[in-house]
Amino acid sequence: MIVAIDGPAGVGKSTVAKLLASKLRFLYLDTGSLYRAVAWAVIRNRIDPADADAVSAILPGLSVQMRFENGTAVVEVNRQDISNELRTPEVSAAASVVSAIPAVRAWLFPLQREIGLQGSVVAEGRDMGTHIFPEAEVKFFLEADPMVRADRRHRELVAAGHSRQIEQTALDISTRDGRDRSRAVAPLVPADDAHHIDTSAMSAAEVVEHMMAVVTAKL
Ligand code: DC
Repeated sequence: MIVAIDGPAGVGKSTVAKLLASKLRFLYLDTGSLYRAVAWAVIRNRIDPADADAVSAILPGLSVQMRFENGTAVVEVNRQDISNELRTPEVSAAASVVSAIPAVRAWLFPLQREIGLQGSVVAEGRDMGTHIFPEAEVKFFLEADPMVRADRRHRELVAAGHSRQIEQTALDISTRDGRDRSRAVAPLVPADDAHHIDTSAMSAAEVVEHMMAVVTAKL
C-alpha cells in the first residue's frame, strides 16, 4: 500500500508521516531529503542552484542513496553520509530552487519509485499523489495557516541550534512555497482524489488519528 502525503513547508508533514509510518509499520519515504541532497552537492560544488545547465551537468557524476537504519533515513551523496547537513536554511532554499529544474526531477524520479516499491510506504513530498505515486491508495494534502507554519519551522530551527528571526523564517517559507507552487514541472498542487487536512489547530497526534481512520478503512 502507498500512502501519499503532500503539502507546503512547515505544515507538519514530516512529523505526521513518521508517526503514521511507524504505527502502520510502513517504510517512511522523505523525498524532500533527496532534493536536499542534490542541493547540498550543488552548494558544495559552488554552483548557482538557479543555473539549470550547471546543475544538470553534475547529475551524471552524482550518486544519491537513501538507506534505513532503525527506522531513520540515512542519506549519502557519493558514499558520504550527509544526513545531518540537510536541514539548514541554505540547503532548504537551494533545494526549492533546484527542484524546479526538470532534469533534477527526472533524475530523482526512478530513485523515488524504486524506494517506494520496496513495500508498503508512507511517502512525503510535494508531488507524491500527483506525479510519483499517482496510483497511491490513499492521498493526503496538508495545509495550515502561514503564521502557524512559520512558528512551527522557527521552533524546529531553534531546537536544532540555528539562530534565526521568526520574521526571516516566515519570509523563507513563503518564498519557498511560492516557488514550489508556481514551478512549471510537478508544482505543489493537491491531487484530485486527495483528502485535505487543515492542521492549523490540530496536534500531530490528532492529525495521525484522522489519517489512521482513513487508511485503516482501506486496508
Ligand atoms: O519537504 P522539504 O522541505 O524537505 O523539501 C525541500 C524542497 O524540496 C522543497 O522546497 C521543494 C522540494 N521538493 C519537491 O519539489 N518535491 C518533493 N516531492 C519534495 C521536495
